[in-house]
Amino acid sequence: MEERVVSQAAYGEDDHAESSIRPLDFDQYIGQEKVKKNLEVFIEAAKMREESLDHVLLYGPPGLGKTTLAMIIANEMGVNIRTTSGPAIERPGDLAAVLTALEPGDVLFIDEIHRLPRSVEEVLYPAMEDFCIDIIIGKESTARSVRLDLPPFTLIGATTRAGMLSSPLRDRFGVHSRLEYYKEEELSKIVARSGELMGVVMEEKAAMEMARRSRGTPRVANRLLRRVRDFAQVEGSGEISIELADSALENLQVDRLGLDEIDHKLLRSIIEKFRGGPVGVEAVAATIGEEANTLEDVYEPYLMQIGFLVRTPRGRRVTPLVYEHLHMEVPDNE
Ligand SMILES: Nc1ncnc2c1ncn2[C@@H]1O[C@H](COP(=O)(O)OP(=O)(O)OP(=O)(O)O)[C@@H](O)[C@H]1O
Ligand SMILES: [Mg+2]
Repeated sequence: MEERVVSQAAYGEDDHAESSIRPLDFDQYIGQEKVKKNLEVFIEAAKMREESLDHVLLYGPPGLGKTTLAMIIANEMGVNIRTTSGPAIERPGDLAAVLTALEPGDVLFIDEIHRLPRSVEEVLYPAMEDFCIDIIIGKESTARSVRLDLPPFTLIGATTRAGMLSSPLRDRFGVHSRLEYYKEEELSKIVARSGELMGVVMEEKAAMEMARRSRGTPRVANRLLRRVRDFAQVEGSGEISIELADSALENLQVDRLGLDEIDHKLLRSIIEKFRGGPVGVEAVAATIGEEANTLEDVYEPYLMQIGFLVRTPRGRRVTPLVYEHLHMEVPDNE
């Protein structure tokens, strides 16, 4: 996938930069008030009962703070967190090794949990429900199943695709938290906080402008801030004024809604090649040279969120808002 400044996906280059501004507790975690409030109650209650927290499923588009929230939950519970991911656990034995190494109360965080192999998932069911696993020892005729007890633990699963989770797995999570796109004011607070931690001075209006172009996503907001800071350092005084932010964002080719060249290409292709749709995602993908999966996971969710794209049984359709945004004439049939 091409690297875009407004991509919601994480890139390796940002890992270090991200860890220094990642919120560590609920107070630093801006927005998602409903999710936060509920989790605070569940954590408080579990602590009062001296129990492990019930299993938590976090879902929502990339970059909205699922991993961050998992770390905060462990932190607020005062326990360790072990991190792994669906594709990393290939066989039941891999999962058994992880589970048996847990300390009482620990959080096991499984990212991209929708990608767990089915055979591994089956080991997870009794582990989640009864804190035990059945393992097979011996071979063929002498093979027998042995039940192993596990310490009580909290599984936190994260996924961008809740719909791809099997229902037996989904049903074993006691807490389901859906993260939403952030409001501009929240993103502007996030930009201001990150700027402070990075030691950059910026105008409030500049923070607001970066927030507006962040596609509702903290990861994008932080990435825009880093790139705008580069412009401030090289072409300005180091401070981020609104004028500097505007011109930097223009250089980055991020429009005032946070859309970039690829979004424009996608929208224009639907309008120019498919008369505005409806058109299947494969056909659009082929005309702009992207993978259909990438379009569905990365580009479309935000375009749908802002009402630019609608999904119909016969495919995607652009809305009149798109013509307006691209300064194009709305056709008669709209
Ligand atoms: N509520 C928040 N307040 C402040 N910063 C946040 C918040 N949520 C996320 N961030 C910032 O955004 C970055 C991305 O968040 P995170 O890695 O938790 O997203 P994610 O949902 O796990 O993404 P992915 O689906 O790609 O794994 C974090 O490093 C953090 O700095
Ligand atoms: Mg994550």
